[in-house]
Amino acid sequence: MTIRLAPLSDADPQAVENLLDAAFGIDRHSRTAYRIREGMPVIDALSFAAFAEDVLVGSIQSWPVALGDAAVVLVGPVAVAPDRQRAGVGRKLMERLIETAPEAPMAMIGDPEYYGRFFGFTAEATGGWAVPGPVERRRLLARNAEGLPRTGTLGPRTFALGEVNA
Ligand SMILES: CC(C)(COP(=O)(O)OP(=O)(O)OC[C@H]1O[C@@H](n2cnc3c(N)ncnc32)[C@H](O)[C@@H]1OP(=O)(O)O)[C@@H](O)C(=O)NCCC(=O)NCCS
Repeated sequence: MTIRLAPLSDADPQAVENLLDAAFGIDRHSRTAYRIREGMPVIDALSFAAFAEDVLVGSIQSWPVALGDAAVVLVGPVAVAPDRQRAGVGRKLMERLIETAPEAPMAMIGDPEYYGRFFGFTAEATGGWAVPGPVERRRLLARNAEGLPRTGTLGPRTFALGEVNA
């Protein structure tokens, strides 16, 4: 399977929604990750689609959020079509994200067995962070978190609205 990565804006928005429903279920909108970035526009430069012969098989989205007054990139959802999972698509999408913004402080809610093993996300820095909803603490992950506050609430980056894709 040859996978081509492209900006997520190249994908049909309805195809992205269908992919997310297939990967996470249709109740996904109530997840805490959605509340953390509520009202924020996606960061175009850090959101990608994976195509196999022009069929959308994977996507990754990134959002501008904040921890207190520090800017953080919220990563996710990362989704791969159920019939294309475990074939390296998720890894390609994550690698492209990290190559594009290697130094950016990032946060996500995900499985540490996957995001820690390959991409350097850990829960070490996040123990004192509050989030707007339920979270399994071991799944609240961060990368490049050295300069971030140890405590605070992760939420929409309202102080930078309008600047995100400028
Ligand atoms: C999680 C997801 C993004 C991974 O992408 P993928 O393309 O399927 O996985 P990759 O091919 O890049 O990675 C494969 C490796 O990661 C491992 N892996 C995949 N998903 C994993 C998970 N949730 N936990 C632990 N390991 C995982 C595989 O076992 C495999 O390891 P191996 O090479 O030693 O066999 C994708 O499976 C997906 O969209 N799943 C549905 C949504 C979901 O459950 N997300 C949970 C995390 S937020």
